[in-house]
Amino acid sequence: MGSSIQEQSGDDVAQRLLDSAATLAYDPATEVDWDTPLDKDFHGASPEWSTLYGTAYWREMSEAQRRELTRQEAASVASTGIWFEMILQQMVLRDIYAKDPTGAEFQWALTEVAEECRHSIMFARGAKKLGAPAYRPHRVAVELGRAFKTVAFGEAAYAAILVAEEVLDVMQRDWMRDERVVPFVRTINNIHVVEESRHMKFARDQTRKRLAGAGEARRQINALVIAIASYVIVTSMVNKRVYAEAGLDVERAVTEAKANEHHKSMMRSSCSGLMEFLASARLLTKPALVFYKRAHLI
Ligand SMILES: [Fe+2]
Ligand SMILES: [Fe+2]
Repeated sequence: MGSSIQEQSGDDVAQRLLDSAATLAYDPATEVDWDTPLDKDFHGASPEWSTLYGTAYWREMSEAQRRELTRQEAASVASTGIWFEMILQQMVLRDIYAKDPTGAEFQWALTEVAEECRHSIMFARGAKKLGAPAYRPHRVAVELGRAFKTVAFGEAAYAAILVAEEVLDVMQRDWMRDERVVPFVRTINNIHVVEESRHMKFARDQTRKRLAGAGEARRQINALVIAIASYVIVTSMVNKRVYAEAGLDVERAVTEAKANEHHKSMMRSSCSGLMEFLASARLLTKPALVFYKRAHLI
């Protein structure tokens, strides 16, 4: 009885998301202005989100250099977005393998994969238009991601998906409204924010549902797995190569970015809602907190 009520409520969520996708969805191939050449008078991201904003190095940089840096940073974040959308799509497909195809959850999951597939193509075209090279995460992160997408299941998979989506979301909400940001990037961010709000609802619902059936040991282990995954995701967001692409001294830029209290506080304040959710799901265990603190999410 209890489980059938739960399935019912899960299906309700999935049905609402399917209805939402039927009403509001975008085709980035036609919605985004791909043709207008890149106008270098614009930023790629809100400067306040730059990893160097507020540092001594930032004050020394010319406006043109700052704009080049935020364009490279935006391209790097988009490339990291592609990386975890690849992970996410494979986890979701594994999760629904051989499940009831007549159910709303199954159909919603495939709709989400279709949206992610369009997002990844959109991010790829966007990064290219920003004049960025192929930013890929560090080798260790790539291999950890490969393992994670192969074995993660249940709340570990969906909570990690949620963290990645929320961290991207908070930045993109600022960038899509910012008139200093190049218009085609604002469109990309707008599309992503609208469609991801559905994904985050699903990930929250799935995380709660899967945890409801999990024992204490499993919750403890997965809380730590999710925290480590979050740490890898957040620390992979901006590739070191962006500094070289912006004509900066990489060593100095990395040192100042690592010590940048402004950026850390932006991350912490924007992730407070996410942390509240993780706390309510009892996923902020002591060992997990070590990683969230190190990633400056809390
Ligand atoms: Fe996405
Ligand atoms: Fe998503």
